[in-house]
Amino acid sequence: MKMNLIFHAFLILTMLSFCIASTPNTICFFRTYITNALEDDIVIHITGKKVSNIGDDDQGNRTLASNEEYDWKYGVKIGTYYLGEFWWGSRYASVSIYNYDIFGSCYNENPFMVQRCYWLVKPDGLYNHVRNDSFPGHWTRKKTWDQIL
Ligand SMILES: *[C@@H]1O[C@H](CO)[C@@H](O)[C@H](O)[C@H]1NC(C)=O
Ligand SMILES: *[C@@H]1O[C@H](CO)[C@@H](O)[C@H](O)[C@H]1NC(C)=O
Repeated sequence: MKMNLIFHAFLILTMLSFCIASTPNTICFFRTYITNALEDDIVIHITGKKVSNIGDDDQGNRTLASNEEYDWKYGVKIGTYYLGEFWWGSRYASVSIYNYDIFGSCYNENPFMVQRCYWLVKPDGLYNHVRNDSFPGHWTRKKTWDQIL
C-alpha cells in the first residue's frame, strides 16, 4: 500500500515534468465533465488559473438544467488550478475542480491520451471519479453543500 502511494506520487511527478518539458504543449490535456444530477436547475461558475496556453480562464456563470452536462478541455502544467462554484437554490458549494490532488485521481496513466475527469452534482454534495461509472460505484464525495444565510 505504501509502495503503491510512493509509486503513484512518482508517476504524477514524472507526468507533470513531462508536461512542462513539452513546448508547445500538445499533451497533458484534461477534459472535465460536470453533470447536474439534481432535479433542479443550478448555476455553476468555473474559474481557472495558470491554464496552459490560456493563462486565466474565467468561464462565467452558466445555468445547467437537470441532467445537463458541461465539459471543457484544457492544458495543464505545474500550478494549474480550477475552482468550481455551485449554486442550488439556497445552497452553495465551492470545490477544487482541478488541482494536484485531482490530477492524481483523474490521471489515467497514458500521457498521450486526454485525461478525463467526471463530476456529479448530487443532493448530498459533489462527487468526482476518473470514469463515468454508474453511481455510487467508486465515486468520491469531495464537498457537501453549505446553506446560504
Ligand atoms: C453568479 O450566480 C450567482 C448565483 O445566482 C450570483 O450570486 C453571482 O452574483 C453571479 N455572479 C456573476 C459574476 O454574475
Ligand atoms: C455518463 O453515463 C450516463 C449513463 O450511461 C450517460 O447518460 C451520460 O451521458 C454520461 N455522461 C458523460 C458526461 O459522459
